[in-house]
Amino acid sequence: MKSLPIGVFDSGLGGISVLKEMKKLMPHEDFIYYGDSKNIPYGKKTKERLKELCFQIGDYFIERGVKAIVIACNTATSAAVNEFRERYSIPIIGIEPALKPAVERCNGGKIVVLATEVTLREEKFYRLMNKYTDQAEIIKMPAPKLVTLVEQGSIGGKEAEDAVGELFKNININEVDSIVLGCTHYPFLNNTFKKVLGENITLIDGGLGTAQHLQDILAERGWLKNSNENGSIEIINSSNDQRLIELSYKLLNINE
Ligand code: SIN
Repeated sequence: MKSLPIGVFDSGLGGISVLKEMKKLMPHEDFIYYGDSKNIPYGKKTKERLKELCFQIGDYFIERGVKAIVIACNTATSAAVNEFRERYSIPIIGIEPALKPAVERCNGGKIVVLATEVTLREEKFYRLMNKYTDQAEIIKMPAPKLVTLVEQGSIGGKEAEDAVGELFKNININEVDSIVLGCTHYPFLNNTFKKVLGENITLIDGGLGTAQHLQDILAERGWLKNSNENGSIEIINSSNDQRLIELSYKLLNINE
């Protein structure tokens, strides 16, 4: 088991923000990243369709012999993580909006959760949010346009700044304690958020927490790879557009 790769997937390129955290924490592991850009956006699909798409990817990873699967997509996690755990016998790690750390620091203040429509309307999110409604004012904000921008590689510049400005046009940002980035595409826009909303805004995403969770699970089982060499990263995309593979490697190598 130790030497097998880890499968990571997302509706497109967003999950690369999670892959980066995993690579930093576990540099010796081998990863196969599957971006389902042919079927993006997941955030507007039915739960049934999402399950079908996710199972195709899960089955592919099983054929490739992975030792764990990371669902690096909040939308796919809310639609299919339970069913993945029933279908596959390897560890399944799903990302979810990092509400807990945001609530812990907010002192009863306001938290904006940015995510897709599916993530924000699914029962999984309601259960998470209900744990904290007496400790914070939680504002849900769907932000599908930001997913499209990242897929196009527009992670800085006027178009991205206008999109962030438009989202927050009715919010007094001085009253917001933090913004939870509940979609793995959004961390690629961190600099844009800060530019538009101010350097002091706190942005919280679940990438590092997910990477730590994966590491703990592999360590518990004794499945961490024994090696001193850097592991490999293979990037696959369901779209035939070679530009997306190039953009994926570019995003993987950006240092913020
Ligand atoms: C999308 O495909 O709509 C984005 C999915 C996500 O990362 O939640």
